[in-house]
Amino acid sequence: MRPAHLLLVAALFWTPTAWGGLPENASGVGEHAAHWQPDPLHEYWDPGTYHRPESEAVEGVFQGEACLECHAGVTPGLVKDWRASRHAQVEPPVLCPACHGDDHQKLTFPTPQTCGTCHPQRLAQVEEEKQYGFPSHALAMERVVDAKHFADKPKAEVASCLQCHSVATKCDSCHTRHRFDPAEARRPEACLTCHSGPPHPDDEAYFASAHGRKYQKEGALWDWSKPLRKGNYATPTCAYCHMKDGNHQVADKAVWKFGIREINPTTAENEIKRKRWRETCADCHPPEVAPEFFRALDQERATAWGKLNTVERLLKSLRGDGLLRPSARERPPYPMDWMARLFPRERIGFFEGQASAFYNVGALERDYFEMWYFDNLGAYKGMAHGAGEMSQRFHQRMDAAAQSLGAAAERLRSKGGETSGIDWKPLWLEGEYTRFNRDHN
Ligand code: HEC
Ligand code: HEC
Ligand code: HEC
Ligand code: HEC
Ligand code: HEC
Ligand code: HEC
Ligand code: HEC
Ligand code: HEC
Repeated sequence: MRPAHLLLVAALFWTPTAWGGLPENASGVGEHAAHWQPDPLHEYWDPGTYHRPESEAVEGVFQGEACLECHAGVTPGLVKDWRASRHAQVEPPVLCPACHGDDHQKLTFPTPQTCGTCHPQRLAQVEEEKQYGFPSHALAMERVVDAKHFADKPKAEVASCLQCHSVATKCDSCHTRHRFDPAEARRPEACLTCHSGPPHPDDEAYFASAHGRKYQKEGALWDWSKPLRKGNYATPTCAYCHMKDGNHQVADKAVWKFGIREINPTTAENEIKRKRWRETCADCHPPEVAPEFFRALDQERATAWGKLNTVERLLKSLRGDGLLRPSARERPPYPMDWMARLFPRERIGFFEGQASAFYNVGALERDYFEMWYFDNLGAYKGMAHGAGEMSQRFHQRMDAAAQSLGAAAERLRSKGGETSGIDWKPLWLEGEYTRFNRDHN
């Protein structure tokens, strides 16, 4: 931990009005470190960076048995979970100090590296994801703190980001403390705390598929103590497909990835990934099922990108004719974007930069954002998981969005510019919201 962080975290916990009294140099981490400050909860989501030993009530260095004895009274549920875990049953047992240290005034919270001292193979598999780039569990924390909207928005709005993206900075996301039970991790519910919601409706997609429906009907009767291997499960769960044979690496098969970029699925590299997918399906299906399935997925993606590109061209032409507002010059740039301040650049959609797509945009751009982020991703995730009807429903929403954007564009041309819609200027440039931002990040 850097000294600046220690200072900061100390300030957070020792003064109730810490927000007002933070030292000038207090900062977060990552590319935009100077522009945000961590919340108290970050101590739990990213313990390696922010955890500060806290216990003032208890002093001393204790052996594992002493920790257990006292904590059986202080935190009985936790000790009960630990006693039921494999960590309590092995010889010698993995006692409290293995993950927290033995000095109660210098307690630590375990990072993946802590677990990795005894589970090196699992840690190495997670680390391996990095070679596949974003998105991945291993890079999730970097991704979130380096996102411009994370640094720019009021903290109240982004307080939850680290909760899900902490999958990178701690190992208890899927097999939760203190049971650390692989059976829990094998079930889809372990993933759905994070893999749900409009930009990643993996829950909706899976439960609408033949696989998910069978799980819902019969899952309660399955023996979840068995590892995720061929023959052990009738129907695949999230982890069965994405963590094949228990491999803690979720990025080595992803071709379309998050679904927000148009890609070529037939490159040599993607062929290798597809081969891994075909092998996964072949645990249960005849070999011809997978190629047909992926052909249909790629076809669906081509159709979706046809729709997105049409709208993107439409917005670019409005932009080119100066009809969209706020223009790049009018839009308040992200605080750390000095380049954009000096050289404002017109951008549309994801490819040209997320900066232009989320907020501080006019009504038309916002509608397009919802089309590529929510409707498009619903269409993709449905198709990728064998939920054809769900995919179709989201395609209909894309069609409706394209149509209404087309009509709005015509109105705009006849009126000569975007003057209606959200009251962007007071809200984003001068309003409370922006001032609050400046003072509270
Ligand atoms: C004499 C009783 C006692 C003993 C012995 C004891 N603890 Fe604690 N522990 C507490 C109490 C009380 C709290 C909660 C209050 C506090 O934070 O001071 C606590 C809190 C904790 C926390 C949470 C800290 C946080 O930041 O939220 C951890 C982790 C912990 N103990 C681990 C241990 C370990 C590991 C040992 C053995 C090395 C141990 N405890 C021994 C009483 C004890
Ligand atoms: C295998 C590692 C491991 C062992 C062994 C372990 N813990 Fe933990 N403990 C964790 C993790 C992981 C967390 C969550 C930390 C975070 O949120 O970043 C945690 C959190 C805690 C907390 C904070 C309260 C909570 O659950 O959020 C307390 C208190 C605690 N542990 C006490 C204990 C005690 C007492 C023992 C011994 C019975 C123990 N731990 C054994 C890994 C472990
Ligand atoms: C001091 C060494 C040590 C540390 C540190 C440690 N473990 Fe373990 N863990 C073990 C041992 C030993 C086993 C039992 C292995 C076996 O069954 O052969 C185990 C088993 C497990 C299992 C399988 C449990 C089961 O029911 O089969 C999980 C999951 C697990 N650990 C997760 C973690 C996580 C997550 C962390 C960090 C928060 C962690 N471990 C830290 C030694 C450790
Ligand atoms: C604590 C939250 C959390 C849990 C639990 C979680 N994930 Fe993730 N997962 C994420 C985040 C966040 C990302 C995206 C990271 C990024 O932005 O790079 C991600 C990314 C992924 C990716 C890569 C996506 C891609 O496009 O390449 C896959 C696959 C994945 N998760 C599968 C799973 C599975 C399977 C489970 C359950 C066994 C699971 N996840 C549990 C948060 C979680
Ligand atoms: C409910 C859990 C959850 C929350 C809360 C969450 N994310 Fe994510 N995020 C995910 C998952 C899961 C993915 C990966 C989606 C996929 O591949 O399907 C992801 C993906 C991303 C990506 C894209 C990664 C890439 O490489 O393209 C970014 C950027 C991101 N999140 C930033 C944020 C920010 C900023 C916040 C807070 C405003 C946030 N996330 C809140 C779960 C979450
Ligand atoms: C995305 C969810 C997820 C995350 C994050 C995760 N695990 Fe696991 N873990 C699983 C699943 C699923 C299993 C069961 C694998 C099987 O059935 O073969 C498992 C099983 C284990 C086991 C049990 C025995 C074994 O080796 O198969 C250990 C040990 C383990 N994980 C360690 C870790 C460590 C260390 C980390 C952090 C570096 C971690 N896990 C993070 C999902 C996860
Ligand atoms: C039958 C196997 C299967 C099951 C079960 C499954 N998925 Fe997928 N998933 C896929 C396929 C295939 C893709 C598309 C991959 C591609 O384009 O390369 C995908 C895509 C994804 C992606 C986008 C990135 C990536 O890694 O390809 C995420 C995230 C994801 N699934 C999460 C989940 C979650 C969470 C669950 C459980 C609710 C789940 N999946 C269940 C097969 C499966
Ligand atoms: C662990 C076994 C298993 C794996 C792995 C598996 N499936 Fe399935 N799949 C099934 C079962 C069982 C069914 C039938 C479910 C039911 O009862 O409706 C099914 C049904 C399907 C269906 C629906 C057929 C229909 O008539 O609606 C498709 C499509 C499908 N699987 C594709 C895939 C693809 C693609 C993969 C790999 C990404 C895959 N499956 C991986 C077991 C598996």
